[in-house]
Amino acid sequence: MENVKVEICCGTACYLLGAANMMNIEDQLPESWRGRVEVEAKTCLELCERENLGGAPYVRINGTEIMAQATPDKLLTRIGELLEGAA
Ligand code: FES
Repeated sequence: MENVKVEICCGTACYLLGAANMMNIEDQLPESWRGRVEVEAKTCLELCERENLGGAPYVRINGTEIMAQATPDKLLTRIGELLEGAA
């Protein structure tokens, strides 16, 4: 995949449960991924109100994929899978 779009929810629930730790994810990207990952902070993605998605903090990837209980490590792993085609 050429590029990955990452939307990090910064609504209250997600922020309190760790979204703040992901806001600098761009700084943690390996050199070869730089410029291929678009990161946006979003207001509540309205996923926290739904009980069956796994829990905040939530990240939306490429507009459709939802990552629940997201962490910087999980997010970097998934970005790598998408960019390197290992998914
Ligand atoms: S606060 Fe993140 S989905 Fe609502």
